[in-house]
Amino acid sequence: MVLPSLLHTWRTKVPRRKATHSATGSEAHYEDGRYYDQAYRRRRHDVRFYTNLALESGGPVLELGVGTGRVALAIGKAGIDVVGVEPMAPMLARARERLDKLPGAASNRIELRKGSLERLRLRRKFPLVIAPFNVWMHLYTREEVERGFATVRHHLEKRGRFAFDVLLPDPVSLAREPTKRYRGGEVPHPRDGSRYRYSEYFSYDPSAQIETVMMDFEHPDDESRSFCTPLTQRQFFPAELEALLHYNGFKVESHTGDFKGAAIRTATESQVVIATLR
Ligand SMILES: C[S@@+](CC[C@H](N)C(=O)[O-])C[C@H]1O[C@@H](n2cnc3c(N)ncnc32)[C@H](O)[C@@H]1O
Repeated sequence: MVLPSLLHTWRTKVPRRKATHSATGSEAHYEDGRYYDQAYRRRRHDVRFYTNLALESGGPVLELGVGTGRVALAIGKAGIDVVGVEPMAPMLARARERLDKLPGAASNRIELRKGSLERLRLRRKFPLVIAPFNVWMHLYTREEVERGFATVRHHLEKRGRFAFDVLLPDPVSLAREPTKRYRGGEVPHPRDGSRYRYSEYFSYDPSAQIETVMMDFEHPDDESRSFCTPLTQRQFFPAELEALLHYNGFKVESHTGDFKGAAIRTATESQVVIATLR
């Protein structure tokens, strides 16, 4: 169940009959920065991890996929300069809104730019490049992943570090029957208060290693108000991830199963990687 973290999908309606299991799913998922912040307000452990790395590096930091600034703002508040890049306008607008509320000294340390990490080419180098919270799972093909690593190589200082995290593929979730509905109970619409029946469908393309979670919101009385929101994520298996890093010019400094250095186990949620140029 991913329900508690999904309220931000409410405004991103996809008519149920038109919803497809495609990569565009990730766009629908990031169309409301306010709900993104609400949904992930309790996620702090990774913020501490990335802020500590930023302090160790002395900055400036480049954050790829900065979202609503959840991590970048904490780094700026800690006294480190950060440049954040994000393609989704609603996420960036929310980040700017939050930035405006910071004291001048902190907000002056944070620069936000619109764009995809795949094409980013700044004329600057950084001692730390980060891509927190599953950003890399939105690079769906080998070519996209390679362009992502090329961007990191382009911006990293010689002895710089690249840190990011992605989910550990969950064999139970990936093996789910795509037509099976996983019911999640009733949820209130955050704006008009009407109650929807919430369920999820999971489908996995084992060849492309892409999982799509289709979040289905069924209005009890009015079918025209029912909608789905897809979330599409590329799965990275640990040995594959290390091979990709190796063949794209990186050396793995650490590859752990959480933000405190635990080993990767079956129950691991996030794989956390720190890599350097080799
Ligand atoms: C789960 S959010 C993480 C946001 C932020 N790093 C955080 O920790 O809250 C994933 C972000 O990656 C962004 N993203 C997806 N594809 C991207 C790309 N090609 N270049 C840069 N960012 C991308 C999404 O728009 C979204 O904001």
